[in-house]
Amino acid sequence: MRKTIITLFVLLATGSVWAGPREMFISRCGSCHQRGGATEPVNPGDKAAIVWEKYFKRKRHPTSLKELSEDEMQLIIQYLCDHAADSDKPESAAIPK
Ligand code: HEC
Repeated sequence: MRKTIITLFVLLATGSVWAGPREMFISRCGSCHQRGGATEPVNPGDKAAIVWEKYFKRKRHPTSLKELSEDEMQLIIQYLCDHAADSDKPESAAIPK
C-alpha cells in the first residue's frame, strides 16, 4: 500500500500521468517554436479557431509534422481551437514569448 502511494506521488510529481493536450502542444510544437529556438513561439490565442482548423487541414505548415501521429495532431488542433483568439478562454502564453 505504501509503495503504491509513493509510486503515485512520483508519477504525479513528474507529470507523466495526466499530461494533457496543453503539455503535448508545448512539448511537440514548442520543440521548434520557443524563445531562442528554431522559430518564433506560437500560441492558441494567435489565431481564431477556424483559422487553426484550416491551417492544418490545408497543410499550410512549412515543415513536415509527420513525427506527430494523427491522434496527437487531432488533440493539439482541438486544444488550439478550445483556446483560440475567439474562444472563451484564449491562451497566449502557453509558450512564453
Ligand atoms: C520541426 C520544427 C517545427 C515543429 C515541430 C513545429 N513547427 Fe511550426 N513552424 C516551423 C517553422 C520553421 C516555421 C516557419 C517560420 C517562419 O516562417 O518564420 C513554422 C511556422 C508555423 C506557423 C506559421 C507562423 C505563424 O505565426 O502564423 C504556425 C501557425 C505554426 N508553425 C504552428 C505550429 C504548431 C501548432 C506546431 C505543433 C503541432 C508546430 N508549428 C510544430 C517549425 C516547426
